[in-house]
Amino acid sequence: MKILITGGAGYIGSHTIVELLESTDWSLVSIDNYSNSSPDTYRRIEEITGRKVEHEDVDLRDEQAVDACFDRHRFDGVIHFAALKAVGESVEKPLEYYENNVGGLIHLIKAQRKYGVKYHLFSSSCTVYGTPPSLPVTEDSPIGKSESPYGFSKVIGERILSDCALQWDMDVLALRYFNPVGAHTSGKLGELPLGVPNNLLPYITQTAAGHRDKLTIFGDEYPTRDGTCIRDYIHVTDIAKAHIMGMRRLIDGLQEHSFDFINLGTGNGVSVQEIVDAFKETNQVDLPYIIGPARPGDIAAIYADNGKAREKLMWTPQLGLDDMVSSAWKWQCHLDQSL
Ligand code: NAD
Ligand code: UFG
Repeated sequence: MKILITGGAGYIGSHTIVELLESTDWSLVSIDNYSNSSPDTYRRIEEITGRKVEHEDVDLRDEQAVDACFDRHRFDGVIHFAALKAVGESVEKPLEYYENNVGGLIHLIKAQRKYGVKYHLFSSSCTVYGTPPSLPVTEDSPIGKSESPYGFSKVIGERILSDCALQWDMDVLALRYFNPVGAHTSGKLGELPLGVPNNLLPYITQTAAGHRDKLTIFGDEYPTRDGTCIRDYIHVTDIAKAHIMGMRRLIDGLQEHSFDFINLGTGNGVSVQEIVDAFKETNQVDLPYIIGPARPGDIAAIYADNGKAREKLMWTPQLGLDDMVSSAWKWQCHLDQSL
């Protein structure tokens, strides 16, 4: 098996490469344009696994470069992580997001069709549900109104893949991640947010490390148990492992339909306040914070029903909240030491 990883230098892609190298004998090629990462990530992966990662500098927006890459390698499957992912930025730069996330996907599918590459795992998001009518969110929940061009690019991506899988010999699985957090347990690999982080966990670790004055909790008057928003935080290593199970399911021909989609979450809703408390308690560090106004576009609560992932992928999340906050903190400390 030869697998193309797009966006393999990024957060989830790099953790998936580690798991693939450690538990499969598939050969891998990662492509990235480093718009939100650095090739240094491959050195980190090598340090953890003792294995080299074959990688190429390819931009998915460049159709010819994508085609040439498929021509050079005879891939059996694709795990497609590469995308722009900042929700707020996508509102300001909608065309950049559609060109990158939708245009890039189209180039990839065209090459898959031309070179007969059958399997595709797609990084989707719980954002496709919008504000869900009921909780926990099962895969039967309807696709909701997208709050941003980023969110809509995932809805369109799933639709394009579903339409193409019906027409051509392709088997596609969209994995709808909830909130991936944490870092590799070694502390040597993690998320590298550029600039001021938008997401909660990187903001917390940078604040605890003294790079930011304080965390602002966005709102405490939501109709939740403590007034702060609830999300389904899931360890990035658990997410990574699900890709191996997903790809095996495709290869073994076990998927009932040419296109399917599966939630990846723990099934537990955790509030912002609970994350803050768990971070302080587990790591025994101080974390200055204030309560601020609600962030526009945030929904009060969302968490997954992960029954389908358990049944179809035989996947069970192994890591809990303590592992998430401790690995994130270990990674922050590792980064600061190497400055
Ligand atoms: P990331 O930004 O860390 O990784 C994405 C990688 O893709 C980066 O290395 C970036 O340089 C690369 N890339 C972007 N555009 C490219 C292009 N045109 N050509 C080649 N490479 C390109 O993001 P991540 O958190 O690892 O997310 C991976 C996937 O998971 C994305 O599709 C994202 O939308 C999806 N997702 C992420 C989250 C999350 O919270 N992290 C949640 C749901 C879904
Ligand atoms: N939050 C704060 N303070 C911060 C940052 C976040 O209180 O400084 C809160 C948010 O209000 C939210 C929670 O922490 O309640 C999580 O926020 P994130 O930005 O970390 O994550 P989101 O749930 O908003 O968004 C994530 C991904 C998106 C994806 C979305 C799907 O970042 O890419 O899940 O719901 F689209």
